[in-house]
Amino acid sequence: MRALAGLRVVVSAGPTFEDIDPVRFIGNRSSGKMGFAIAAAAARRGADVQLVSGPVALATPDGVSRIDVRSAAQMHAAVFAALPADVYIGAAAVADFRPRAPATAKIKKRPGEDSMVLHLVRNADILADVAASDVRPRLVVGFAAETDEVTQHARAKLSTKGADLIAANRVGIAGRGFEADDNVLVLHWRDGSRTLPPGAKTALADALLDLVQERLEA
Ligand code: CTP
Repeated sequence: MRALAGLRVVVSAGPTFEDIDPVRFIGNRSSGKMGFAIAAAAARRGADVQLVSGPVALATPDGVSRIDVRSAAQMHAAVFAALPADVYIGAAAVADFRPRAPATAKIKKRPGEDSMVLHLVRNADILADVAASDVRPRLVVGFAAETDEVTQHARAKLSTKGADLIAANRVGIAGRGFEADDNVLVLHWRDGSRTLPPGAKTALADALLDLVQERLEA
């Protein structure tokens, strides 16, 4: 099965870490497993795969070229450096905000200080920027991690982010979503949706790529 031979696929995966000072950061619970499974599956189908990974504890899949980044800003730059591509799949859990001014020395608490305020500023949206760029891949795929009203939020992201496909999952359920090996995904595109059978992220990655191939051919 080399159905993606000759195509370049860029995949982002994992969390981003936004530094507060040299020893602390804001992160999230993304393991990177979903994005790595997608990269592996695309490589098995013959694609030229560039994986842009946040900090994760995962081995690079066979046949995949990998670049490691830490922050959302670094991931944004690495994704754009990897374009042009035929397909972009944004599976990373990108931090929406970063500390406005990371401290260069460890922040020390002062006697009597019983609260502190951390000023955050907005990060650029990688998925939306890729979709709006003049090197827009033919197919732009995003994820939506939601705790409630999953369908409405996911479908809204099709238009707010300019994506062709959004893979939605409910997070906050034990054994599913972040950190887990299994997941439940519903795929949404402008004029359709498909609920994938619940299962291992490796099987879901293959089912997602089936739809990617169909949409490329549509
Ligand atoms: N995303 C991105 N850049 C960001 C934030 C998100 O590329 N700065 C991408 C993610 O990789 C994912 C999609 O946008 O493909 C949706 O991410 P999600 O965290 O579900 O949504 P947000 O855009 O962060 O929106 P909200 O937190 O309001 O739900």
